[in-house]
Amino acid sequence: MSFIEIDNVWQEYGHHVVLERLSLNIAEGEFCTLVGASGCGKSTFLRLMLGQERPSRGRILLAGKALPGEPDPGRGVVFQRYSVFPHLNALDNVAIGLELPRAPVLGRLFGAKKRAAREEARQLLEKVGLGHNLDQYPAQLSGGMQQRLAIAQAFIMRPRVLLLDEPFGALDPGIRKDMHALLLTLWQETGLTVFMVTHDLAEGFNLGTRLLVFDKTRNDPQAPNAYGARVTYDIPLNADRQVARARIADIAALQPD
Ligand SMILES: Nc1ncnc2c1ncn2[C@@H]1O[C@H](COP(=O)(O)OP(=O)(O)OP(=O)(O)O)[C@@H](O)[C@H]1O
Ligand SMILES: [Mg+2]
Repeated sequence: MSFIEIDNVWQEYGHHVVLERLSLNIAEGEFCTLVGASGCGKSTFLRLMLGQERPSRGRILLAGKALPGEPDPGRGVVFQRYSVFPHLNALDNVAIGLELPRAPVLGRLFGAKKRAAREEARQLLEKVGLGHNLDQYPAQLSGGMQQRLAIAQAFIMRPRVLLLDEPFGALDPGIRKDMHALLLTLWQETGLTVFMVTHDLAEGFNLGTRLLVFDKTRNDPQAPNAYGARVTYDIPLNADRQVARARIADIAALQPD
């Protein structure tokens, strides 16, 4: 049984077929990079994985069970821009993920639990290089810093699946490199399964353990919306990195808690 099983999934909006006949098996811990022409359905695919939308046909199984019908903390998400809360400072932006679900009645945590949540958030912010920016609001941070904040916000929930929609698209090349290193470190440490959409083919090849190319195999010029995109190439990459990550996971499993 694969960790994620995508079984003949279609997504249609009225007569517009966006995705068709998608069937994929994804092992836990894979880092899938998704590329394809603009409008071919990559973000739609991520919304299906997030549970924000249900496929028109077919099914998606996560660890053998139907994907929950709505987003849950097990699936973190980072968009190209602005997925952080503008009215919260950096520390609150990250801590709130821990505070809200653990305090469903009062809305916020108090006392020792609140301190523990904030300490965890602070440590993660330090890890992503924002240890000196805890009190700053997103508008006071650069684009790269905001994306690191968004990544910390996603990781604090310890998701099993991380969905990234062009997370570094708005950043300049030097900062992108730093972000790649950060993301790979966090991925290697956590054993997380990643789906990352990118328009940058080199980024797709360099970061992933598997490159998925979305494209239409059928095209009717009279009816451009009649057919959807499929995964036309599914290319294994960076085998050494997969092995390295598996080894790290083995070592981590041997450590006492
Ligand atoms: N809720 C919706 N209702 C109707 N059509 C939609 C809906 N969501 C997406 N679409 C259509 O699905 C197609 C795919 O959109 P999607 O955003 O998934 O593409 P994409 O591959 O992410 O493109 P880009 O690379 O530009 O981000 C588009 O033609 C879009 O108009
Ligand atoms: Mg998109």
